[in-house]
Amino acid sequence: MPDVRSAIEQRLAAAFDAVHAGADPVLRPSDRADLQANGALPLAKVLGRAPAEIARSVVEQLDIADLCDEVEVSGNGFINLTLSTRYLAERLGDLARDPRLGIEAVASPETIVVDYSAPNVAKEMHVGHLRTTVIGDALARMLTFLGHDVRRENHIGDWGTPFGMLIEHLVDLGEEEGASELSAGDLTGFYQQARASFDSDDGFADRSRRRVVLLQSGDDETLRLWRVLVAGSVRYFDAVYSKLGVQLTDDDIVGESYYNDMLAGVVEELEAKGLLVVHDGAMCVFPPGFENRNGDPLPLIVQKSDGGYGYASTDLAAIRHRVLDLGAQRMLYVVGAPQKQHFQMCFAVAAMAGWLTDETQAIHVSFGSVLGADGRMVATRTGGTVTLVGLLDEAVDRARAAIAGRRSADPNNEAGSDDDDVVAKMVGIGAVKYSDLSTDRGRDYVFDWDRMLAFEGNTGPYLQYAHARIRSIFRRGDVSVPAPAAPALRDPHERALGLALLWFPVALDDTLATYSPHKLCGYLFDVASAFTSFYENCRVLVDDEAQRTSRLILCDLSARVLSLGLSLLGIEAPERM
Ligand code: ARG
Repeated sequence: MPDVRSAIEQRLAAAFDAVHAGADPVLRPSDRADLQANGALPLAKVLGRAPAEIARSVVEQLDIADLCDEVEVSGNGFINLTLSTRYLAERLGDLARDPRLGIEAVASPETIVVDYSAPNVAKEMHVGHLRTTVIGDALARMLTFLGHDVRRENHIGDWGTPFGMLIEHLVDLGEEEGASELSAGDLTGFYQQARASFDSDDGFADRSRRRVVLLQSGDDETLRLWRVLVAGSVRYFDAVYSKLGVQLTDDDIVGESYYNDMLAGVVEELEAKGLLVVHDGAMCVFPPGFENRNGDPLPLIVQKSDGGYGYASTDLAAIRHRVLDLGAQRMLYVVGAPQKQHFQMCFAVAAMAGWLTDETQAIHVSFGSVLGADGRMVATRTGGTVTLVGLLDEAVDRARAAIAGRRSADPNNEAGSDDDDVVAKMVGIGAVKYSDLSTDRGRDYVFDWDRMLAFEGNTGPYLQYAHARIRSIFRRGDVSVPAPAAPALRDPHERALGLALLWFPVALDDTLATYSPHKLCGYLFDVASAFTSFYENCRVLVDDEAQRTSRLILCDLSARVLSLGLSLLGIEAPERM
């Protein structure tokens, strides 16, 4: 069954068509009524008539009495629609019976690659990697829920010239010592020491250069050492993933090295297609429309003058592999904004080579930076720099303290229990993820402990608390969830909540239309706010049984929408807090 917005849009579109073919009304929630359609405005020029007059002609054609109680045209040509309460109630009955809460699986599932997280071996995972990991995971969950075949691909940086020096440093440290340093998360220390030796010790630098050659020629012992480095770092990434509760596993690691054997083929194919140009000794493709600051055409380097391959070669191979071998119809690259041009150029070259066609979409899901409260890097309570694991542990500690503080201030608190630690984890990690997801990904955001852990406002803890509070209504009143049925919507607060709940599939659609998790966050915040107003104005556990049942249905639906919505964001919803 179509969601509420689509149901109304279909009727509107038919009416608009009767006035002027091909008009496209846009429907959005409104303070004036429930929904507002524009559409007359853009037609005014075309038809040479006043928008309000056009809107009135549309309304004359509109067959919508079964869905709407009131349709009114505003002076400037907007069409304001008030949904019929009976229709809303019936749809809420459907929602209550539907485990998917109105979100239908797509009719034709696609194979979608989500390229996210992608930290670099023996380099610190920074907060930017936190963003790609959290955003990518949320998008992967949503697309999976819609029934798509989602391939999570963790394109880790596990190849390149720095590995010569990293391997030599590993040899000097001793394998065990080196590997444990890496898996403990001291990746920066490891890298910097290797770098320091390289810069100060000529013998070390020579060994490192020979190592690169050995690595590239596939020397067994060198590859074995390389694997030790990779495995040590991957253990650290896994520790971060498991604390974060993201769905990435070792099976999703398809790092840069995976494409090594395909790189020569990529160059050959580009050559055969006549796309290669030798520029400063390097093999390049010049995709049209890209220029450097001086206005000169900008090359994408496919093979360096020394014969080596780089980041772009690997990404071209990955696109080709994903489209031709995996059958990807869509590829999402959840990577920071600084790589915008890199992806635009790779996509352009892949299109020139015929790997990307109109049937395949490649999208750079870009995001802004994370800043500390003072505009600098994120620091710990004591001011030092932190590993990501340290940061997540601190989030949990702070959540534990915040929950305990609230408990002691709340006279009817549900006393602490054995799962306090579990709840602190859900709240602390949820707060970090939510503060990231609730910011428009295009924008920079400030990592602010106090704000993300606040129990008021558009925060993770607020939504989790709203959910837990609803569950506690059932627990404390010792009532069970009523059989699904259409609730009565007599009070305006019941009606407003009902309308918000029915908007869930629309919110998910809008979220995925632009790959913007903050839209789903904003929606869940609206639901929690509508629930709060309802709860403050409508007593739930009233004596009148029919009314009590109806209100309990609204409570349960609210909790289910919050819980499913949070889970699509990768955030857990505790039953009590
Ligand atoms: N490892 C890269 C970095 O840390 C990100 C890789 C993103 N994915 C890709 N296919 N290029 O910046």
